[in-house]
Amino acid sequence: MTACGKPLEVCMQGLGRLEYRGYDSAGVALAAPGMNLVAVRKKAGRLDNLKADLKRSPLPDATVGIGHTRWATNGEPSDTNAHPHVSADGKIAIIHNGIIENASQLKMDLQSEGYVFSSGTDTEVAAKLLGKVANIIIKETGKPDLFKALRRVARMLTGAFTILAVDCRQPDIVVGARHDSPLVVGLGEGENFLGSDVAAFVAYTKNAMEIGQDQAVCISGTSVTVTDFNGNPVDDTKRFTVDWDASAAEKGGWPSFMDKEIHEDPEAVANTLLGRFDEQGDIVLDEVHIGLDVFRQIDKIIVVACGTASYAGMVAKYAIEHWVRIPVEVELAHEFRYRDPILTPRTLVVAISQSGETMDTLMALRHAREQGSRVLAICNTQGASIPRESDAVLYTHAGPEIAVASTKAFVAQIVAAYLLGLYLAQVKGTMYRDEIRHILEQLKGMPEKIQWVLDNQAGNVEQAAKQMVNAHSFLFLGRHVGYPVALEGALKLKEIAYTFTEGFAAGELKHGPIALVDAGEPVVVIVPSARGRNILHNKVISGIEEVKARGAYTIAVAELGDPDVEQYADVVFWRPVCPTLLSPLVDVVPLQLFAMDMAQLKGYDVDKPRNLAKSVTVE
Ligand code: G6P
Repeated sequence: MTACGKPLEVCMQGLGRLEYRGYDSAGVALAAPGMNLVAVRKKAGRLDNLKADLKRSPLPDATVGIGHTRWATNGEPSDTNAHPHVSADGKIAIIHNGIIENASQLKMDLQSEGYVFSSGTDTEVAAKLLGKVANIIIKETGKPDLFKALRRVARMLTGAFTILAVDCRQPDIVVGARHDSPLVVGLGEGENFLGSDVAAFVAYTKNAMEIGQDQAVCISGTSVTVTDFNGNPVDDTKRFTVDWDASAAEKGGWPSFMDKEIHEDPEAVANTLLGRFDEQGDIVLDEVHIGLDVFRQIDKIIVVACGTASYAGMVAKYAIEHWVRIPVEVELAHEFRYRDPILTPRTLVVAISQSGETMDTLMALRHAREQGSRVLAICNTQGASIPRESDAVLYTHAGPEIAVASTKAFVAQIVAAYLLGLYLAQVKGTMYRDEIRHILEQLKGMPEKIQWVLDNQAGNVEQAAKQMVNAHSFLFLGRHVGYPVALEGALKLKEIAYTFTEGFAAGELKHGPIALVDAGEPVVVIVPSARGRNILHNKVISGIEEVKARGAYTIAVAELGDPDVEQYADVVFWRPVCPTLLSPLVDVVPLQLFAMDMAQLKGYDVDKPRNLAKSVTVE
C-alpha cells in the first residue's frame, strides 16, 4: 500500500479508513533490505485485534508494506484465511480483492507440483503462483523482477482481482495489477501509495491517479510506472485531486459515522446543488460530456443500481417521468444484465452508486454500453470504476460516506437525479424555464427543511425507538414517492438493527400484507401531503385506519398541519411543508435516525453491521 515513508503506520492508518469495506479480518506485510522473508501479521476480526497484536509483539522497521481488511468471499473469516498470503518460500506477500474464478484449477496444478496450501482462499493460490513465477524469472534473467512476475500471473487469472505484492528481495517497490476491481494511486513526495480508494491515503496526499482496467503498476518512493499486463507502457493515465480533507472521513466528536452522516444530509443536498445552475437559473452540467443533440434524442431512461441507490432511482422515476415525459425504468443492476433488456442508442442508462465500485452495477453499465446505449453515472467517489467507465458522470458531493448503511449519499443521489431530470426537461423543452427555476428554488430550500427535522424530531424518534426496541418485525408502507422511501426505511432497519422488515406500496396492503398485521405489530406509514386535493393522502390515511383497526402500532411520517394523521397514528414524525416530489428528501431522515437509534439501543455497531460491506466489489 505504500512505498517509503513509514509503511506500517501508513498501512494501519489507511486500513482504519478503509475498514468500512470489510472487517472480517485484517493483516499487513512488510519488506526491508536485509530481510530474508517478508514480515507478515494477520488476525481475524476487527482491525483492533491486529493493532493489539502488533502492540504486543511489534514488527521490524521496513521500507515498503501492504495492508488489507477483508470481507470474506472465499474461505471463512479466520487468522489463516486473512490476507496477506505468502509464497511457498515466504519471500513474497500479496493482498487481493475480488474472486479468482480459476483458482481451483490453478491450485490443483500447483498441488500436483508439490505445493501445499494452508488456507481455503483463492488468494493463497495467487500467492503461491506468484512465488513460483517470480523464481522462474530469477532463473531466466538472474535477478528478481516482481513487476514482471505479477503481470505474468495476472494474464493467467480469470475472475475479478486487484492484487498488490511486496518481495523482500526488492524492498523498495510495491506492485499491483487490476482487473474488475478498484485500484488508485496516491502521489506523495518521496512516497507513493496504492489503495482501493483514495480514503486509504488522503491523510498523506490529495494527488491521485486512476489505474485502468487490465493495467499493472509499480511504485517506489520516487516513481510510478503503469503498464498493461504485457508490459507496454500506459501514457494516458488520468490524474485528479481529491476534493475532501482527511478530517471529513473522521468521526469528529460524533458517536458514530452514521450519526455524523445523517446530520450531514442538509450539507449533502446543498453541495450537490452547488454550481449546477447559472445566474439565470438555467441548469448547467458542464461536467456531463454528452452532446445536447444526444440528450434531445433520448427516449427512455433505465436506472441501474443496487440497495439504497436503487431506491434513489425509484424516487427519481416519479419526477423525471413527470417532468420529461419519457419512460424511466428502474432495475436492480444484477437483474438487468441477465434478462436481455431493450437498449438502443436513444436509451440513457443511469448508473447510481455511492461507491462507484459495486460490481453488479459496473457489469450492468458495461452491458448497456456494449448494446450501444449511453451511460451516465451518478456517483459519490472520484476516480471510481463506475464513473470511469461511463460516458458521463454527475458527482454527488456528499463527502466520504463511511458508515455501511447509506444515508447522506441517498439524499444527494436524489438531488443529482433530479438535476438530470430538470436538465433533460430544459434540453428537450418539456417544461417552461420558469417552472424549472421554481423547482430549483424549492430544492435550494430543502437543506433547511432537513435541518428542521434533525433539530425538532430526533427526540421524538428516539422515544419511538425505545418503545419499539423489542419488536420482532416492522411493516413500512408508502405510496407514490413515499413508496421508495418506505423501502429505504425498511432497508435501514434490516441493515443495522437486524430487524425483519418489509416495505410495501400502501395500495398493496389489502392484497396480502395486511394478513401479517397482528396486535402490536409496528407499521410505519409515509403519509403524503394533505394540501390541495391530494387524494392519495386520504387513501393512505384509510390504510392507517385499516391496520390500526387490526391492532397495529402505527408510526406515521407526516407533514406539519396534517389534519387527520394524529387521530390514527400512535406516533407521528413530522416533516415541514414541501412539494410532494421533494418530500423524500425530508421523509427519509426520521427513518434513518430511527434505524440508528434502534441499532444503538440493541447494542449493535451501527457503522459496521454484521455480514455487510459498504462496497461490494464482487458479483
Ligand atoms: C451495499 C451496501 C448498501 C448499498 C449498496 C449499493 O449493499 O451495503 O448500503 O446501498 O451496496 O452501493 P453503491 O456504492 O453502489 O451505492
